[in-house]
Amino acid sequence: MQNKTYSAALIGTGRIGYSLGLDKKREQPASHSMALNAEKRIKLVAGCDINAENLEKWHRANRQAKAFATTEELFKSQNFDIITVAVNEDAHLKTALEAIAAKPRLLILEKPVALNMSDGLAIKRAAEAASVPVLVNHERRFAKDYAKAKTLVPTIGELQSVHASLMSGLRVYSEKEEETGAYSLIHDGTHLVDIVRFLLDDPVLENPNIFGIFKSDDGAVRNVSAQYQTEQGASVVFDFSGRSKFFGFEIVLTGTLGRISIGNGIAKLERRRSSKLYTGFYSLTKENGHFPKKTGYFANMVKNAADFLDGTAPLKSTLDTGLAALKMLEDIKESL
Ligand SMILES: NC(=O)c1ccc[n+]([C@@H]2O[C@H](COP(=O)([O-])OP(=O)(O)OC[C@H]3O[C@@H](n4cnc5c(N)ncnc54)[C@H](O)[C@@H]3O)[C@@H](O)[C@H]2O)c1
Repeated sequence: MQNKTYSAALIGTGRIGYSLGLDKKREQPASHSMALNAEKRIKLVAGCDINAENLEKWHRANRQAKAFATTEELFKSQNFDIITVAVNEDAHLKTALEAIAAKPRLLILEKPVALNMSDGLAIKRAAEAASVPVLVNHERRFAKDYAKAKTLVPTIGELQSVHASLMSGLRVYSEKEEETGAYSLIHDGTHLVDIVRFLLDDPVLENPNIFGIFKSDDGAVRNVSAQYQTEQGASVVFDFSGRSKFFGFEIVLTGTLGRISIGNGIAKLERRRSSKLYTGFYSLTKENGHFPKKTGYFANMVKNAADFLDGTAPLKSTLDTGLAALKMLEDIKESL
């Protein structure tokens, strides 16, 4: 039995750092603070935010920890086993580099790795030079429903196609937002391409065929689709919409014998059975009981961090998988 306790510091006490953990509709824990506090092997000892109001709200709920208004003060205070970086996209590079220089035993970095590949590779170089391992919080890699979907892929025959879609009201891409990262291709698109790669065993997907581009009057891209082909010949299509008046995130994998649908609020397996509609035909029939209700997405991420530090598990979401997702998004961006 391990009885080691790992000290953790959280940089960025906003939504994913703290307040999403108060959302009653979300499966909890849903924030870094709540997930770190729930893991017995970890002690959250410090938090840091440049926004005094966010820091104060967080500190009121985390009195056991010290609060710091700057990263300089935070890093001067002590060394940490884990540093979690949950700041806005435009501060990932600077904060990740500062955190790496403080030499934690593990850096947990929010997605996307960075605003672009150049920044992402700078983080990779620094992490390698300082021998700091990095876990990227592409949280679906830790969720039990996606893990189950992955184990079911071989049961639907030969994979023919994957159709992944992200639908929201946020612009898909705008050059004007390059510096802020306030566009869905990078914001949630990183989750979509990452989890498709996970489901397919992390293939290299490159040279996309780009189609279906729709731009609004301000020049922002509101729709775009990108198609790839796997080495085994399956078509992989991503649809990004930024003019939907709802949020949708779903992936449909169709094989020669069945279909898996997985996403936000969806987890379904259908396999071929003798058709109830036509004699001599087969139809897809839903099979119940395959997917867990509770996914453990955030708790399992933090568990993976502690297991990694215990030396009992590899990281399940790495800087390399994070950068592979970023590279795909950059390829799409370059075609727009
Ligand atoms: N994994 C997920 O599903 C998920 C969900 C939401 C957000 N995110 C990611 O988490 C990150 C934060 O997003 P959010 O929605 O929590 O944003 P947010 O604006 O709610 O919180 C970010 C916090 O970081 C602080 N901050 C910014 N620069 C800082 C700096 N240099 N030093 C210290 N603090 C700094 C801000 O003051 C703010 O309180 C983004 O990268 C976002 O993409 C991930």
